[in-house]
Amino acid sequence: MSQAIRQLLLQRTQELLDAIADGDWPTYAELCAEDLTAFEPEARGQRVEGLGFHKFYFDLGAPTGTRHTTMIDPKVRLLGEQAALVTYIRLVQSTSNSGPVTSRCEETRLWEKQDGTWRHVHFHRSENS
Ligand code: GLY
Repeated sequence: MSQAIRQLLLQRTQELLDAIADGDWPTYAELCAEDLTAFEPEARGQRVEGLGFHKFYFDLGAPTGTRHTTMIDPKVRLLGEQAALVTYIRLVQSTSNSGPVTSRCEETRLWEKQDGTWRHVHFHRSENS
């Protein structure tokens, strides 16, 4: 059973990352809790709450070119039956005028089971390198 939950959470996390790469706001919003909290470089050290901060970037339009996101060494830590941590290195391959580039960052994402559905409730992302 716990293996099935781990697989489901990895799948939902990959769906979330693919939604970001594709600029797919409906899918991103469906996977997240409305009161999502986050620390990410764009927030300049502030903890942002809610989806509005993230929607700003989706509203700029889907990124141009091809993007492919890979989770390296993902780990799922179940915190009882209602919450879980997913940690990994995120690699994003994309195209630029000077050819293909890859960015890398560390991510921690927290999921909570709400009314029977796993929702993304918090994340922390390092600077890209
Ligand atoms: N900036 C949106 C996310 O990483 O979930």
